[in-house]
Amino acid sequence: MKVIYDKNYTVYFGTDVLNQLAQTLINKAYSHVFVLVDENTEKFCLPIVKPYLENFTVIKIESGERNKNLASAEMIWQCLQKNLANRNTVLLNLGGGVLSDLGGFCAATYKRGIDFINIPTTLLGMVDAAIGGKQGIDLNHYKNLIGLFKHPEQVFIYPHFISSLPNIEKTNGLAEIIKHALVDDKKLFEKLVTTHQIDFENMEKLIEKSAKIKIEIVNKDPHEKGLRKVLNFGHTIGHAVETFSLTNDSEPLKHGEAVAIGIICETYISYKLYNINDKDLERVVKFITANFNKYMPKWDTNELFKIMQNDKKNNNSNINFTLLKKIGKAVIDCNCSNELIIEALEFYKNQAYLN
Ligand SMILES: NC(=O)c1ccc[n+]([C@@H]2O[C@H](COP(=O)([O-])OP(=O)(O)OC[C@H]3O[C@@H](n4cnc5c(N)ncnc54)[C@H](O)[C@@H]3O)[C@@H](O)[C@H]2O)c1
Repeated sequence: MKVIYDKNYTVYFGTDVLNQLAQTLINKAYSHVFVLVDENTEKFCLPIVKPYLENFTVIKIESGERNKNLASAEMIWQCLQKNLANRNTVLLNLGGGVLSDLGGFCAATYKRGIDFINIPTTLLGMVDAAIGGKQGIDLNHYKNLIGLFKHPEQVFIYPHFISSLPNIEKTNGLAEIIKHALVDDKKLFEKLVTTHQIDFENMEKLIEKSAKIKIEIVNKDPHEKGLRKVLNFGHTIGHAVETFSLTNDSEPLKHGEAVAIGIICETYISYKLYNINDKDLERVVKFITANFNKYMPKWDTNELFKIMQNDKKNNNSNINFTLLKKIGKAVIDCNCSNELIIEALEFYKNQAYLN
C-alpha cells in the first residue's frame, strides 16, 4: 500500500488498501457507517468491500449523471435522518464521480457536516473526482451548480475495481488523464500518445501518476483562486456539451466523453491563440479519436452558448477558458471571440470525427 498524499487527508493507493479502511473505521469508532452505492457498485464492488466492514447500512441510488440532483440528495438525507445518523456517522461513497460528488455534498451538509470517505470505483473517480474536495450536484442539468469545498476524511484507491468496468467507462477516465498530461506533464503526454493500446488491466502506475498531478495542483490552491483553474482545461466546452447531451440525447454522453470533445475544441482554440503547433493539435485529436466512441453532434450552437454563459467558472460576462500555452503548460482566465468558439466546434465536427 502506498500513501500518495497525507496533508489535509490521506489518499491510500494499492491492492491492500481495504485493510487500512477497516483499521480506519475501528480507530474512528463511528457510531454509524453508511455505504452509498448504485446498482452497479452494489453488484460489483460492495461484495469486495463488505468483508472489511462490520455493521453498516446501504443507501442505494440509481446510477447516472441524471441522478446527481436534489431529489437524490434529499433521498440520502432522509435515509440518514430516518436511521438516526448523528454527527459521529461516516458515509462511505463507493462508486464513481457521481456518487462521490453527491455523497460528499450530502455528508458535508447533513447536520452541518459528517465525515465521508471516498472509495472510487471508476477510473475517472480514481484519478480525479474522488480527490480534491469539490462536492456538488447539478441543477436543471447545469453541471455542479450547487456545491461546496469539503475534503473527504480519507480516500482509498483500489485499482482492481477497474476490472468490472464496462469499456466505455474505462475510456471515460482517459479524458481526465490526458487532461492532466496536457496541463502539467509533457512527458506523460508523450507516453500516452505513443502508446499503441492502453492496457486497462495494468494501469496502476498511470493512475498513481495522474492522481498525484491533481493532488499537487489542488494542494497549492484548494479553493480554485488561481492555479487550480488549470484543471478546468477542456471543461468549458466539455460541460456545455455534456449539459446539452443530458437534456437532448436518449443516451447522454459520459462526462469523460464530453470532456474529450472539450479538449479537442479547446486545444484548437489554444492552437489559434498560443504556441500549440499543428502537430501537437493533430496528436491530441488522434489520441482522442482512437480511444473514444464517435459522437455525431446534433448540438444547437446558441444553446451551447447559453449554457457556457451560465457556467460557474465565469467571473464576468465573458466565457472563461483555461487554454494551453504549450503541451504541459496551461494558462488560466482566457477569453476568446464567439467566432473562434464556433470555429472550434466546427473543427471538432469536421476534422475529428466526421472525415
Ligand atoms: N469533484 C470533482 O473534482 C470531479 C472531477 C471530475 C469529474 N467529476 C464528476 O464525476 C462524474 C463522472 O464520474 P464517473 O465517470 O465516475 O461516472 P459514474 O459515477 O456515473 O460511474 C460510471 C458508471 O460506472 C458504474 N460503475 C462504477 N464503478 C463500477 C465498477 N467498478 N464496475 C462496474 N460498474 C461500475 C456506475 O454505476 C455508472 O453506471 C461527473 O458527475 C463529473 O462531474 C467530479
